[in-house]
Amino acid sequence: MGQVGIIGAGNMGESILKALLKNGFKKDSVVFSESKKERASYIEKTYGVKNTKKAAALVKGSGCLIIAVKPQDAKKVLQDIAASISNSQVIVSIMAGVTISNILSLLGKPVKIVRVMPNIAIKVGEGVIGVAAGTDVTREEMKAVVDMFSSMGLVVEVGEDLMDAVTSLGASSPAFFLLFLEAMIDAGVKIGMPRDKARAICVQVIKGTLAMLEEEQVHPTVMREMITSPGGTTIAGLAVLEGRAFKGSVIDAIEKACKRSRELSL
Ligand SMILES: NC(=O)c1ccc[n+]([C@@H]2O[C@H](COP(=O)([O-])OP(=O)(O)OC[C@H]3O[C@@H](n4cnc5c(N)ncnc54)[C@H](OP(=O)(O)O)[C@@H]3O)[C@@H](O)[C@H]2O)c1
Repeated sequence: MGQVGIIGAGNMGESILKALLKNGFKKDSVVFSESKKERASYIEKTYGVKNTKKAAALVKGSGCLIIAVKPQDAKKVLQDIAASISNSQVIVSIMAGVTISNILSLLGKPVKIVRVMPNIAIKVGEGVIGVAAGTDVTREEMKAVVDMFSSMGLVVEVGEDLMDAVTSLGASSPAFFLLFLEAMIDAGVKIGMPRDKARAICVQVIKGTLAMLEEEQVHPTVMREMITSPGGTTIAGLAVLEGRAFKGSVIDAIEKACKRSRELSL
């Protein structure tokens, strides 16, 4: 796809830029546009890539444009680049809740669009990245986008109708999981464990559980049953969680986040 232009070098824009450079993109094949002066010079100095002050200026020459501004800035950015963009380029939008049809109507012309929903863990190459192709995007172009994001984590191709589900399950869920982790650590403190040791134990519990699930390809229920002996400690704790509708609460939380994602769509 040739040169990649990133519009908006905030948290996500920087993570994407960093991953591209780490995974073989040359410094002169990535350009960015960032409206905050200090932020732009930090990115230029840190990564040695060129800042183009005006978003429209990086459209020419970029085969792929990654829009990484906040959804409320979508209108301005898309209207700025509309005149210079053509159907030979691919727009990759990571803006939450901004649909392909929103983008098309703001641009006012037919352009190839891929919606991408990454989560925060792309920063460490272990993200979940949902991708949905708009019409006219070829298999080759889609493959190029998937390859680009594969270095940042697990890429899951879905229809655009599932983007809100990807947002809640992939992008919001780390927060739910972190709340659970915090609760585990606090519980450790409550039963007398120093906080640093409680943290180390809980993090390793999670790492080890995931490693075993992966390595042995075992279903979560099967693994849970392996450590739930009759009349033992685990079932005593599980009964409390089930008594307070733990699973139902998690399901409701993810469903609610999905509904909220739909409500927030432009
Ligand atoms: N953070 C996440 O975990 C996450 C996950 C999935 C998707 N997303 C999506 O990713 C997008 C970016 O999120 P973020 O957390 O990286 O936001 P962010 O840190 O605010 O980054 C956006 C950057 O773009 C700049 N900007 C705004 N308008 C611009 C323009 N016309 N030209 C060039 N730069 C411009 C902003 O500057 P100003 O502040 O001066 O406007 C800001 O520095 C959002 O649409 C969000 O929905 C985020």
